[in-house]
Amino acid sequence: MSKPASESSAQREAGQSRIGVTGLAVMGANLARNIASRGVPIAVHNRTTARTKEFMEEHGHEGAFTGAETLEEFVAALEKPRRIIVMVKAGKPVDGVIADLTPLLDEGDVIIDAGNSHFPDTVRRTEECAAHGLRFMGIGVSGGEEGALLGPSIMPGGDPSAYAEVEEILTSIAAVVDGTPCCVHVGPGGAGHYVKMVHNGIEYADIQLIAEAYDLLTHVAGLDAPAIAAIFEEWNTGDLESFLIEITAKVLAKTDAKTGGPLVDVIVDQAEQKGTGTWTAIDALELGIPLTGITEAVFARGLSALRDERKAASTTLGGPTPGAGENPESLVEDIRQALYASKVVAYAQGFAQMRAASEANDWDLDLGAMATIWRGGCIIRAQFLNRIRDAYAEHGDIENLLMVPYFTEAVADAQDAWRRVVVTATEQGVAIPAFSSSLSYYDGYRRERGPANLIQGLRDFFGAHTYRRTDAEGAFHTRWSQDGTEVRTDG
Ligand code: 6PG
Repeated sequence: MSKPASESSAQREAGQSRIGVTGLAVMGANLARNIASRGVPIAVHNRTTARTKEFMEEHGHEGAFTGAETLEEFVAALEKPRRIIVMVKAGKPVDGVIADLTPLLDEGDVIIDAGNSHFPDTVRRTEECAAHGLRFMGIGVSGGEEGALLGPSIMPGGDPSAYAEVEEILTSIAAVVDGTPCCVHVGPGGAGHYVKMVHNGIEYADIQLIAEAYDLLTHVAGLDAPAIAAIFEEWNTGDLESFLIEITAKVLAKTDAKTGGPLVDVIVDQAEQKGTGTWTAIDALELGIPLTGITEAVFARGLSALRDERKAASTTLGGPTPGAGENPESLVEDIRQALYASKVVAYAQGFAQMRAASEANDWDLDLGAMATIWRGGCIIRAQFLNRIRDAYAEHGDIENLLMVPYFTEAVADAQDAWRRVVVTATEQGVAIPAFSSSLSYYDGYRRERGPANLIQGLRDFFGAHTYRRTDAEGAFHTRWSQDGTEVRTDG
């Protein structure tokens, strides 16, 4: 064993830690501290030994920690079957840790990847571990650094027998809302990381919609950051109440020590990303699910990254003639309603995507339970999720949340304001990709007959791709450039 950094760890023997965490960057360290705070003996390890020592010096006194300098010591410190949480950067580092651990473990031991891994990697790792008799779990953990320490939302996926080994610990460290822990077994294989991916996609859409509202309040209503902060604070007392709206008020209210002005005004307008939003959008494209809100949010980050191009375009490409200006008071209320309606669409799309993925992968996802575990701890936690939870409790399987009476009415009530906002923004030249694409989705979804008949006609014209008729069964092709007659092609 490593040299103990605290008296409590000195007294422990090999094989006494109930669980281990390898990877002690902030998320791993905070997760380990959260587990230890529940009285669970825990072994900790980091590839760089100095980090383990530092962790033990800072936090060793907080609980029953064993600091391990090597993976061998780490593994030896764990009771069997061993339960190991891997909290390292998604991608190759996860494979590296699994490869190093595998020869040290025994049949039935459990490896848990708690990072933001891409779900196909989780599916592959599950199979690779199974080939060595190991049980692998991919769990989504949301809530950032503070959530990891004080109570995250946890989305565990993988073998139910492996989950049974860690259920007590995971539910004990999760956030709790109305007495219910924000942790539930999501499904087998990659299901946990899939649901976390969609959570992050929704996080992208939520953030983009907030940014668009901020842009309109700045450039159409002419308000400054402190005034907008006050508006978000007010919005956080109504339907929009959520962690992201709450922290938007705080970010906008922050004064920059250097300039004395709002900090937000001196932050570079380029949004970065680690990939989960892009994965969500790609997956939606592959499933054929219209996911406009989240996808537009990803594209908007891409556009923000083109800072030099935008700088050049800002003096080259013309905008609209400035209008007479809006009545700020009604505009603010219109923006609030547009934000809410667009948010409903983004969630409806995200839940429709999870439903399709569940069917495609045989995951049997309980979408009401997903709404339940997202009510606390995670980045998208919001009052609104209670409404989604209630919808599933009342209606069971739901094709699209927009069809649930509560949301049908909420969007119907907001739609006039929503349309005015889209018109105003367009007239004033303010980009609102998430607001407007959500409205287009809504208008497309509520049409019994859209214009895709023409698309089919064109495809049949240039490629003989065939079409179906509204008044007969079967597939048809018209000899557009020959004699113009129609033939049935399927029998
Ligand atoms: C969470 C967050 C977390 C992280 C995002 C940021 O649920 O705790 O989603 O996972 O903050 O990955 O993602 P981007 O860097 O892509 O914005």
